[in-house]
Amino acid sequence: MPATILLGTQWGDEGKGKLTDLLAKEMQVVVRYQGGHNAGHRIVVGDEAFALQLLPSGVLYPYITPVIGNGVVVEPKVLLNEIDALEARGIDCSRLVISGSAHLVMPYHQEIDALTERYLGKNRLGTTKRGIGPAYADKAARIGLRVQDLLDPKIFRQKLDVVLKEKNLILAKIYNRLALSSDDIAKRYLEEYAPRLAPHIGDAVGLVHDTLAAGGGVLLEGAQATFLDVDHGTYPFVTSSNPVAGGACTGAGIGPRYISRVVGIAKAYVTRVGAGPFPTEVSGEVADTLVERGKEFGTNTGRRRRPGWFDAVMMRHAVRLNSLDELAITKLDVLDSFETLKVCIAYEAGGARYAHLPWHQSVLHEVRPVYEELPGWGTSTSGVGTKDALPRAARDYLEFLSAQSGAPITFVGVGPGRDQIIRFAQR
Ligand code: GDP
Ligand code: IMO
Ligand code: MG
Repeated sequence: MPATILLGTQWGDEGKGKLTDLLAKEMQVVVRYQGGHNAGHRIVVGDEAFALQLLPSGVLYPYITPVIGNGVVVEPKVLLNEIDALEARGIDCSRLVISGSAHLVMPYHQEIDALTERYLGKNRLGTTKRGIGPAYADKAARIGLRVQDLLDPKIFRQKLDVVLKEKNLILAKIYNRLALSSDDIAKRYLEEYAPRLAPHIGDAVGLVHDTLAAGGGVLLEGAQATFLDVDHGTYPFVTSSNPVAGGACTGAGIGPRYISRVVGIAKAYVTRVGAGPFPTEVSGEVADTLVERGKEFGTNTGRRRRPGWFDAVMMRHAVRLNSLDELAITKLDVLDSFETLKVCIAYEAGGARYAHLPWHQSVLHEVRPVYEELPGWGTSTSGVGTKDALPRAARDYLEFLSAQSGAPITFVGVGPGRDQIIRFAQR
């Protein structure tokens, strides 16, 4: 069975955790391929809710091997806390495999992330302050520490001493902060974290390929989303990794020929956390309704998300960038109370009309959305289990999203619960 990629098509928090949990059922291995603990993937099972940051959402199934791929940046303390919290609730995490090539998020990354944001003032990106950008910057600069270094104290110390010298200069001379102690960091990472993580560190690429060769299913779970991608997103208001489908190949170590299915997740509207352009952003009563009904506050950071209408221009671009085979639309139920709904079908700027995303960022900052108005359905969909049982206007709305975006809709979410999902069409 070849591999499936599941990824976000907007600015994050589309419901990747919930959909991964659903698709994982038929898989042997679920791999997180990029990002770090900036992610917050929430899964609701009955009365219980799980908010995952680093562990792949397949971890809830006892027969699945969860993998943290080489493309992820790992904060060991957060990962251990996550494992402990799940184990305390009866979820067995012993099968977890962490790629030795994944990079470590270090204390100076988190400190520099927060300081850089403060330094940028009103130009700040609104990062999660988890050290993600600085960790990926060190990876690209080839001064990062990797998960496998935890298994080799001498190498770990050597690398840490070299890199910390520079980081301490930055902390002291630029930000007027106290230097960090190499001894303290080494002690924590090598004596506290390494012994606990060691049994999990290994050959993630080998495991994925052995699974594929044996005909097993591999699901590649994206974090963040297409428009937070460092190459294809609304740069610089992006994260520092590649959530797009291509990133799944590099971040898990498999070639594109193994990918047989790419599922894009989108909310029935849009949200964004942090700064950056957002053509269909709304304010006032509409915004409050979306935020309240959608509980649009960060899964881990608690920040209020910025809401807006569904943007088909973005979605057309996401279909192209990711070779999307299908769309899963989540949170349809959040729109239940609206009399009319708006869908952005094009942008206008400087007298020109854009059916596709303008390549120049300055244009994107100026565009005005062209909306099509559709009638709402004014009734609850949260208990609906089949496509035919959805109100006519809701089906029309979904068909419109699909036609405008250029991909078929296969799943529709009508609530946070594991079962609150409609199989909309067969693939
Ligand atoms: P992720 O980062 O893409 O995994 O998404 P998050 O977990 O951060 O945010 C999605 C939120 O929406 C979570 O609280 C989910 O429980 C919730 N959710 C997912 N699907 C639906 C849905 O169809 N309807 C409603 N009302 N909530 C949903
Ligand atoms: P999931 O996986 C929504 C946003 C931050 C900020 C920008 C850069 O739950 O969808 P970073 O800390 O990554 O350097 O921040 O990216 N961001 C997210 N927004 N969902 C996420 O993850 C996000 N991860 C990062 O708000 O604007
Ligand atoms: Mg999230």
